[in-house]
Amino acid sequence: MEKYILVTGGAGYIGSHTVVSLVENGYTPILLDDFRNANRIVVDGLTQILGQQPIIVEVDVCDEKGLKEVFERFNFVGVIHFAAYKAVGESVGEPLKYYQNNLMGLINVLSNMVAFNVKNLVFSSSCTVYGEPKGIKEVTEETPKNFPSSPYGFTKWIGEQIIEDTFKAYPSLNLMNLRYFNPVGAHKSTAIGEFPIGKPNNLMPYITQTAIGKLEKLTVFGNDYPTVDGTCIRDYIHVVDLAFAHVKALSFLEKNEGCFETINIGTGKGSSVLEIINAFESETGQKLNWAFGLRREGDVTEIFANATKAKNVLGWESKLTIKDAVIDAWNWEKKLAEQNEK
Ligand code: WQD
Repeated sequence: MEKYILVTGGAGYIGSHTVVSLVENGYTPILLDDFRNANRIVVDGLTQILGQQPIIVEVDVCDEKGLKEVFERFNFVGVIHFAAYKAVGESVGEPLKYYQNNLMGLINVLSNMVAFNVKNLVFSSSCTVYGEPKGIKEVTEETPKNFPSSPYGFTKWIGEQIIEDTFKAYPSLNLMNLRYFNPVGAHKSTAIGEFPIGKPNNLMPYITQTAIGKLEKLTVFGNDYPTVDGTCIRDYIHVVDLAFAHVKALSFLEKNEGCFETINIGTGKGSSVLEIINAFESETGQKLNWAFGLRREGDVTEIFANATKAKNVLGWESKLTIKDAVIDAWNWEKKLAEQNEK
């Protein structure tokens, strides 16, 4: 019997890697995306890796009628909900777009799960819900959430609350928040990877686009933080490890009746901006044009996961390293450049 999993935002960076991991582990992902924030070339990449095109439903996750028809069409074992806007800076200028899409999309998914008795949900949350964790660097799931510094962060913060309140009202559901740290890297095949639309916001695509010549110079946002080398520290997790964490989460939920869990998905180690730059240059042999600049508003000095719960509850831990991530990210960037030259 097909184990159908609805993957909303399945053409996105983490979504597409999760589609691969689901197929590799015996599930049948239904890739829901309206491609407003994803490149259709992802479908070719997934077809190359999987040997066949995944089932795609081109639906806006906020479209009540459209999503209801998807739930009528497939008998889902579970849902992994990625579909959301995710640019921190953009959300400050366009809060209504973020609140409307990110919250209404989640509410639409949950309403259909209740209506169609689909029990298992994995929600794409983020370490951003910890905000600036008041001097705490290594955060556990019990570390108090602080108000995030952006509307994007608030959509994750409120999203978790919506899920918790839904669980209280429907305690037979199995609902899980996965709080991602900083996803980096790409699939080894270079068939899929991160497609930043426009100028990248995040460090790794900024590094690879600078190295390939698409961008002139990387600015390191601040070198006067109270850290080992003055630059901010984050927990950079390879996207392939992150994808597999969703499979482990689903497998856990399938074995339970009535559970609500929140789990950090990170490596458990912090790396500074300079350490990432140095790893990139030493692993790829590419010299990077960078310079220190001013701090970026809203940046947290240092945050990384305590990843114990993921290991104990899900039996998951990260396996790939920063070296793997910089090599895979660079190979992906070179692949994109080759494709653009064709
Ligand atoms: C990482 C570090 C920057 C770019 C955000 C979201 C989080 C998640 C991941 C979605 C910081 C520094 C960056 C540059 C730099 N997204 N940097 N120069 O801000 O930790 O997290 O993306 O869920 O929710 O908040 O990631 O990659 O933007 O920054 O120096 O050009 O790299 O200052 O210290 P961030 P990031």
